[in-house]
Amino acid sequence: MKTLSAKVGAIAPSATIEISDRAARMRAGGIDVIALSIGEPDFDTPAHITEACIDALRRGETHYAPSPGIPALRQAIAEKLATENGIPCTAGQVVVGCGAKSSVYETCEAVLNPGDEVILMDPSWVSYEPCVQLAGATAVHYMVREEDFQPDDRLLEAVTDKSKMIVINSPSNPSGAVMTKASLGLVKDVAEDHDLIVMSDEIYEKLIYDREHLSIAAMGDMHERTVTINGFSKAYAMTGWRVGYAAGPDAIIRQMIKVQQHTMSHTATFAMFGALAALTGDQTPVEEMRREFDRRRRFVMETLAGMGLHAAPADGAFYAYVKVEGDDMAVASRWLDEAHVAVTPGTAFGTPGWLRLSYAASMERLDEALGRIRALDG
Ligand SMILES: Cc1ncc(COP(=O)(O)O)c(C=O)c1O
Repeated sequence: MKTLSAKVGAIAPSATIEISDRAARMRAGGIDVIALSIGEPDFDTPAHITEACIDALRRGETHYAPSPGIPALRQAIAEKLATENGIPCTAGQVVVGCGAKSSVYETCEAVLNPGDEVILMDPSWVSYEPCVQLAGATAVHYMVREEDFQPDDRLLEAVTDKSKMIVINSPSNPSGAVMTKASLGLVKDVAEDHDLIVMSDEIYEKLIYDREHLSIAAMGDMHERTVTINGFSKAYAMTGWRVGYAAGPDAIIRQMIKVQQHTMSHTATFAMFGALAALTGDQTPVEEMRREFDRRRRFVMETLAGMGLHAAPADGAFYAYVKVEGDDMAVASRWLDEAHVAVTPGTAFGTPGWLRLSYAASMERLDEALGRIRALDG
């Protein structure tokens, strides 16, 4: 066989694989492993959304759709972005993808050339760097301030004459930090001064606690250089549906649509009708899920503090980001082997020395998991 793609070959396997494979083997062997490594809500999709999808299937919405998405959904997304987020946006500036992940990938393909640099703010979500690499560009890592997980002036040190794009993610996976207006202002200044495109991943927007979600594209003229990424997976417990979206300047969206037309075409037509119902229907389930996450968050953060463990702010998403002594991979490994609790090592997000605990699990399981971890050193 001839040599396979060097570009794909260069992508490092995820640092989470070893732990998750081992957890799966233990579970298959009958061990009660508590997975706090999960990145998805443990709720079912609200019934009215599922019903809308079933209705669409029954109506025969089983054919190809326009590649950028069904018009009604693009329109509803544009209206949501304009009214809720204050982002000037038309339906034509929206492309519906197969989950936010495909929107992240398409943004990279649409914007980047080999040799370009993309600034990632660590700790950062595991798929940004591979998407940047698949587009032939290079990720440059900048670690946010450890005290509050906000960016500071050191961000400027990451900018070079090759910088093309900067990625922000608020609320953040994995840290749970929510960017303040001042932090967004800093990114805005850097982007404007150095002519950078901003990719703002706002997928956890609805899961926010005692803080306000702000969209950078709503600040001044930033919509002219920002691609806003969002989706349905987290807010509406629709991870398996694979519906996300990007909204941004016409030129970038046109490029993204070309990528989508020639690769995935579009997400499932009937799934888009479910997403439309999610956006336009009753929002009560979103608030109910948020409140339940908040209850668990308080419990987890209090328990961790009681155990003498320091965690990042946890103002959004459903993760506690915990500082540990020594090698995070080794600690995660020990927690799995001895406490049968699976967590994600911070190395996967570019910040060794931390562990990500997802609180997308029932209170009983969280209580049990934290009790097992406490017992390890007690
Ligand atoms: C920060 C972030 N962005 C994007 C995604 C992708 O979400 P989707 O299921 O819509 O592809 C995730 C999922 O874990 C995420 O954590």
